[in-house]
Amino acid sequence: MRFDVITIFPEMLDSFKDESLLKRAEQKKLLQIQAHDLRNWTTDKHKTVDDRAFGGGLGMVLMPEPIYNAVQDIKKGKKTKVILFTPRGKKFDQKKAQQFSKLDQLIMICGRYEGVDERVAKYIADEEISIGDYVLMGGEVAAMAVIETVARLIPGVVGKPEFLKERLGKSGFIEYPEYTRPEILEINKKKRRVPKVLVSGDHKKIEEWKSKHGRIIH
Ligand code: 6GU
Repeated sequence: MRFDVITIFPEMLDSFKDESLLKRAEQKKLLQIQAHDLRNWTTDKHKTVDDRAFGGGLGMVLMPEPIYNAVQDIKKGKKTKVILFTPRGKKFDQKKAQQFSKLDQLIMICGRYEGVDERVAKYIADEEISIGDYVLMGGEVAAMAVIETVARLIPGVVGKPEFLKERLGKSGFIEYPEYTRPEILEINKKKRRVPKVLVSGDHKKIEEWKSKHGRIIH
């Protein structure tokens, strides 16, 4: 699967990739991540990507033309989706990540400034996505969250492919508390122990404990 990110801060995504497991996943040809500088698709010598809003208002708006041209150049192959990151979008969740993981290519447009010309949402992007009910300065952090969530669903990206199965229940991922050594640790003068059941060797009880204390991420 290919991840293409259109942004005015491509270095943010380059370092995100290079400083994580994603780099190894790319070397193993499990995926490909490419950041594209939106300014490569500008036509003036100042490489302008934004302009004042029609109708007034403070702040600048990202122009639709460089974005349109970028998407045209980057789009290739069959199962492709173009998403625009905006706090107004549909909430990203594990289910959406599963859907995205079936694609050949996910093109992500990162908004910045006060907004993005609405024609991008209406006619260029297939979907508008938000990662939560708060406003970021731009879509780059959202793109990283989406890439990480989708990438770890690709077998072999994190640990052994069996790792995914261990956590994948009928209706989603189970996330439960985990412990390692030491079994007893003194924190603020109190002895804090690993739950006894986990060191009991009783696998049935351990499974019960995990489902009781775990949360399914749908
Ligand atoms: Cl995708 N973009 C911005 N700018 N803010 C957000 C967001 C996206 N998701 C939540 N807040």
